[in-house]
Amino acid sequence: MSRQIKLFDTTLRDGEQSPGASMTTPEKVRIAKQLEKLGVDIIEAGFAVSSPGDFDAITQIGECVSSSVICSLARATEKDILRAAEALKTARLKRIHTFIATSPIHMEHKLKMKPDEVIRRAVEAVKLARSLVDDVEFSCEDATRSETPFLKEIIAAAIEAGAATINIPDTVGYAIPFDYQRFVGEIADFVGGRAVVSVHCHNDLGLATANSLAAILGGAGQVECTINGLGERAGNASLEEIAMTLRVRKDLFGGADTRINSKEIYASSRLLAETCGIEPQPNKAIVGKNAFAHESGIHQDGVLKRRETYEIMSAEDIGLDRNRLTLGKLSGSHAFRQKLQELGFDPSEEEFKRAFDRFKELADRKKIVYDEDIRSLLTSESANVPAEFTLTHMQLTDCSGGVPISAVTIRRSNGEEVTDAAIGGGTIDAVFKAIDRVSGFSGQLLDYKVDAVSEGKDALARVLVKVVFDDEKPAVMGHGLNIDTMKASAEAYIGSLNSFLAMKDRLRKVSRSSV
Ligand code: KIV
Ligand code: ZN
Repeated sequence: MSRQIKLFDTTLRDGEQSPGASMTTPEKVRIAKQLEKLGVDIIEAGFAVSSPGDFDAITQIGECVSSSVICSLARATEKDILRAAEALKTARLKRIHTFIATSPIHMEHKLKMKPDEVIRRAVEAVKLARSLVDDVEFSCEDATRSETPFLKEIIAAAIEAGAATINIPDTVGYAIPFDYQRFVGEIADFVGGRAVVSVHCHNDLGLATANSLAAILGGAGQVECTINGLGERAGNASLEEIAMTLRVRKDLFGGADTRINSKEIYASSRLLAETCGIEPQPNKAIVGKNAFAHESGIHQDGVLKRRETYEIMSAEDIGLDRNRLTLGKLSGSHAFRQKLQELGFDPSEEEFKRAFDRFKELADRKKIVYDEDIRSLLTSESANVPAEFTLTHMQLTDCSGGVPISAVTIRRSNGEEVTDAAIGGGTIDAVFKAIDRVSGFSGQLLDYKVDAVSEGKDALARVLVKVVFDDEKPAVMGHGLNIDTMKASAEAYIGSLNSFLAMKDRLRKVSRSSV
């Protein structure tokens, strides 16, 4: 008999707390739609009270995701819970996830509260949340360093107050699988079906996935995790590792399984990596670049004779089909549309036209257009928001020992064109300074990454920048994709400026509507 484990994805909340992983609202919406397609049960879309950007993202995700539950995090305070409920107004299925720390060290030094007060606050928070939404989750932060009798007391009180899910996080990644299984088992026996027991594991000792799986054996009915294991410090438990372990080792998990459509795993991983510019390590299980690569002759020989000799799952199981046809300059719109479908993209007609034009431009300059090129093309296309500025011309003069000079022309959305030039310490510096001059904004570059999307000297350069404009935080990201690295850099910088302007505009509207 099968036992369904709920997957609670926190890529957009805990994942975004990973250094350098900030995403814009349109990017979060795209990821949320992909998570829905992947079959995630609950999407933690943000922490509503933490920033107007998080609030906005939760609201917009609620508007366009209907089959996954949308959740907002909230501390156990009235202000947080009211804000979470307000952000969730647009969602069809909604959950408030409220938490308070329960370990002696957190209660004494962080909260400066006595245990009785912590229980009182938890109960008030759960009751208030329940008066606003039907589905409430309560988390005992730092549960694995909490005293079990106290945990039981607060859990019983939270259930009594109306929490339907009780989460016992390993906040600091301290748990060890066999012990966590026993601990979760004890809590699950205590809860006895009055609520779903959930786990949330961090990877500080590299055990987040192992602990989550042990918890399932102990009786957990919900697992919290992120795509690519993204998250604070060493990250969270990785969704793809948990989902695939339950499939590959069904023999050991008594029929426990998730609703995940494993064929969407690779697309989800790529979308996240390209959006926030954090690549999974090459040897990362399931989604790393080398996860299905066999270098040694003995392995290659074995796999060719029979795949199962050295592979316990196939690349196709996660939606990575290495035998797909590549496209070239003779491929027409029909083949391109079919390719997008194969890769899991469902663009609007307008997005399709834009992507097809860019594909034709690319195919003219590049012999083979790989799946990875197309994936990047579509991700970068929709990662940058409506364009206030478009690059129309760029010229760069640089010779060894000389001074790099860049001239740039940009067009504003009202059709006006502006040209100016700048010198810089290096070529990128010159290009970005020229863009600052023509746009009238001043950007501070926090991060710059470039990599090749596929193989060959004619590979597309993918550039990601993170910039603060006019000293106004938060930083925004921009994506550029071009055979010419300098042009990709200019596109990325202008993309980040457009994102900054769109974000300001959107936040102005949000704050006006919540007055
Ligand atoms: O790690 C943690 O304890 C958390 C809680 C807010 C669930 O992220
Ligand atoms: Zn966490």
